[in-house]
Amino acid sequence: MRRPLALALLLLVPVAATGQVKTATELKAEAEAMLETFPHKNSAAASVYRGTIVFLNYCTTCHGTNADGLGRAAKIYNPKPANLRMSLKNDAYKQQIVRRGGQMMGRSEFMPAWGEELTDEQISDVVKYLRSIAPADAPN
Ligand code: HEC
Repeated sequence: MRRPLALALLLLVPVAATGQVKTATELKAEAEAMLETFPHKNSAAASVYRGTIVFLNYCTTCHGTNADGLGRAAKIYNPKPANLRMSLKNDAYKQQIVRRGGQMMGRSEFMPAWGEELTDEQISDVVKYLRSIAPADAPN
């Protein structure tokens, strides 16, 4: 049983020397650097990041992966799912239509109400994501 170990060590040393295997110190330094750059959970960046995931999970069938209104199911609806990259609605309106659905807002009944499905945080995150892709001149 000694030989395989010796062999493994012999193989490992040159690999470490060429930098392909990282030492514990290097890994620790990398982890610390990541912690410094990863956005804090209360930051706007973290919210947008989480909102992107909400959007990809719940909204793309109709609004499309690019949020341009060209999802797989878009062609069966009239009016079409909104192009959310061009939306001039403010955040409060978006929050309302996402929570209560299109019909309650006097819009298409095919925009579902998400208030029972998504948490308050998910709704606020997805609205932050929509803000991040909205036209620069869209009202807040
Ligand atoms: C089943 C299809 C469908 C799904 C899924 C869907 N939507 Fe919609 N959405 C629509 C349709 C259709 C409209 C357009 C309503 C209208 O014009 O009357 C719309 C409109 C909107 C609007 C209004 C935009 C504006 O400028 O007026 C927002 C915001 C929106 N959707 C967000 C979302 C979000 C966020 C999700 C995921 C949580 C989502 N939608 C999922 C169909 C959908």
